[in-house]
Amino acid sequence: MNAITRLAAVISFASLLPLSAVAADPGTVEVLHWWTSGGEAKAVETLKEQVKKDGFVWKDNAVAGGGGAAAMTVLKTRAISGNPPAAAQIKGPDIQEWGALGLLTELDDVSKANHWDALLPKQVADIMKYDGHYVAVPVNIHRVNWLWINPQVFEKAGAKVPTTLDELFAAADTLKAAGFTAFAHGGQPWQDSTVFEDLALSILGNKGYHAAFVELDEQALTGEKMVEVFKTLQRLGTYMDPNRAGRDWNIAAAEVISGKAGMQIMGDWAKSEWTAAGKVAGKDYLCVAFPGTQGSFTYNIDSLAMFKLKNENDIKAQNDLAKVALEPEFQTVFNQNKGSLPVRQDMDMSLFDACTQKSSVDFKDAEKGNGLQPSMAHNMATSLAVQGAIFDVVTNFLNDPKADPATAVKQLSSAIKSAK
Ligand code: BGC
Repeated sequence: MNAITRLAAVISFASLLPLSAVAADPGTVEVLHWWTSGGEAKAVETLKEQVKKDGFVWKDNAVAGGGGAAAMTVLKTRAISGNPPAAAQIKGPDIQEWGALGLLTELDDVSKANHWDALLPKQVADIMKYDGHYVAVPVNIHRVNWLWINPQVFEKAGAKVPTTLDELFAAADTLKAAGFTAFAHGGQPWQDSTVFEDLALSILGNKGYHAAFVELDEQALTGEKMVEVFKTLQRLGTYMDPNRAGRDWNIAAAEVISGKAGMQIMGDWAKSEWTAAGKVAGKDYLCVAFPGTQGSFTYNIDSLAMFKLKNENDIKAQNDLAKVALEPEFQTVFNQNKGSLPVRQDMDMSLFDACTQKSSVDFKDAEKGNGLQPSMAHNMATSLAVQGAIFDVVTNFLNDPKADPATAVKQLSSAIKSAK
C-alpha cells in the first residue's frame, strides 16, 4: 500500500466513525430534579431503571435542596447559557412561564398515542399544557396538608391525636411537658411557608385561602383573619426546636421516626422517609389531615417539563421518559416510594398503604366542593416571584419571636404587590 492509498484508507475509515458513533448513540435524557432524600432517591430510581431498560441513557442532574429553590436556580443558569437539560422538575404556573419563553417542546405524538387526555383529570392536564399542547408530564399528586405523628411518642406522653387547632396546641403542650420536641421542623423558607399555608387554610377556610394565595386579593391578605394566621404561626414556632435553622425536611422527619419528636407538619413526601425506614402506615406512624383542614386537599403535582432538543436520539429518549412516566407500573412503584397519589385515575389503589388510600378518598371528596386548592408553598398557586415574596415575609417573621403579626400582614401585602 503506497502512501496515498494508506491515507485514503485512513480517511475512509475515519469517515465511517461519526456514522457508527451515531448508530451506537442510544440517546440520552438528562433529568434535572431535587429528589435527593433517601425515600425520594428510591422513587426516582424506578424511573431511571425503566428508561435504561428501554435502551436509553439517563443522565442524572440531582440538585439537593427540598422544595426545589436551588434546582430552579441551576435550571435558569443552564437555560440562559442555551444548554437546558432534556427534562426538568417544573411545576404549576411556572410551566406557563417557561412555555412563553419558547423553550419547551410539544409532546403531541406521545400524548396522543398514549391517550393522556383520557388518563388525566382535566385540572391536571390543563396545568401541563402550554397553548393547548402538552409540554410537561405529571408523575404524581402530593397532598400538602398533612400532620405526621409518631403514635408511640403520643402514647408515652399521653397526648391525643388532634383534629382542631386547639387540640393541636394541647397535644404540643403534653409532648413538651413529657420532654419531647412537639414539632420537628427545618428552618428553611419553603418549610416555614408549608406550615404557614396549612395554618392559613385552617383559619381562612377554602374560600379565604383561595382569595389570598390564588387571587392575591388585598382584603383577604390584610384582613383580621390573616393577622390571626401570623399570630398562630408565632405560637406554633415556640414548640419547634430553636436550633432548626437550615435543617432539611428529611432530617426533621427522622426526628419523628426515631421518637425524638412527636409531630411533623409536612406534605406526603414525608411518607417516603417512613417507607424507606421500613415503617408501616397506620401502625408505626399516623397521617392525619392538618387540624381544621379536613375536607380540603392542597395539591402539589410533580411534573417533568421537556425542553427542545436537536439530537434525534436524545428526542427519542425524551419521548420514552414522557411515555414511561404515565405507565401503570411506574405510577404504582414510583408513588409507593414517593408517598404521593398516582396521577392516573384508573389505578388499583389496593396496592397502596393506608395513608395513600386515605389521600385518594380525600382527593375525591375535596373535588366535589371547593376543597381542592393549589399549594402556595409548592409552586402551584402563584408565580415564583410572588411565592418568593411570601417566603421572605413568613421566614423573617418566624425567626423573630418578637415580630408583630399586624406588621407582618402589611409587609406581606406590599411584598406581593411589588413582586406581581
Ligand atoms: C416536591 C416534592 C419533594 C419535596 C421535598 C416538593 O416541592 O413537590 O416532590 O419531595 O418538595 O423536596
